[in-house]
Amino acid sequence: MQYYLDTANIEDIKRINNIYPIMGITTNPSIIAKEKRNFKEMIKEIQEVLGKDKYIHIQLVGETAEIMIEEAKKLIETFGENIYLKIPVTEQGIKAMKELSKEGQRITATGILSPQQIVMAAEAGAEYMAPYINRSDNIGESGVEIVKDAQKILDNVRISDEECKRRFKRVFEPKIFGASFKNVRQVHEVMLAGAKSVTVGTEVFDRLIYHPYTDWSMEKFNEDWQKVYGDKNLLDLL
Ligand code: G3P
Repeated sequence: MQYYLDTANIEDIKRINNIYPIMGITTNPSIIAKEKRNFKEMIKEIQEVLGKDKYIHIQLVGETAEIMIEEAKKLIETFGENIYLKIPVTEQGIKAMKELSKEGQRITATGILSPQQIVMAAEAGAEYMAPYINRSDNIGESGVEIVKDAQKILDNVRISDEECKRRFKRVFEPKIFGASFKNVRQVHEVMLAGAKSVTVGTEVFDRLIYHPYTDWSMEKFNEDWQKVYGDKNLLDLL
């Protein structure tokens, strides 16, 4: 499972990256704006914290495919290769994906609320497709059903590595990228439905491995250990 953190907050990125095996971070215009910082400095600082082998997904904001393509080129020129271009599944966005993927650019399709948007984005050369699970659940639809349906279709139309390389200049597996979560249950169900990657905000990320009974178990182990060995750890005893 690929985990991403859905934030541009530098303190959260430092803390979570220090503990958990994340692949990188994802942002959107609201997430970026929330930090109220100089855009370029902020992304550079995030890159320093994450290191060279991790990825940052940055959304294009231009209103036409032509402007999005220019933004994409400038982003790569400024921040280097480890950037995924987040592109919305609008008509102009799909057009931009189609052009950029031909040149081998890394693309994450975003703003997804239906299985057909996933299928179209994959065909246009996106590597990641990010359905908004909670936003879908919020209006009485089902984020997890979007993932299930789209994953079935993606499995049926999977192309070979050679074909992928010929069309998109690189080999990758198209992946459903669960996004917009408000609780751990949503994350779990999306993983069960076939998503290969998830991006999770800080609050839900912190709860992914939380269980009160685990904490209780550790407290009990410590208590029993300390009765016999005091504050010593294994290094003191070996
Ligand atoms: O990555 C997509 C995400 O940022 C949208 O999440 O929580 O604002 O619905 P949310």
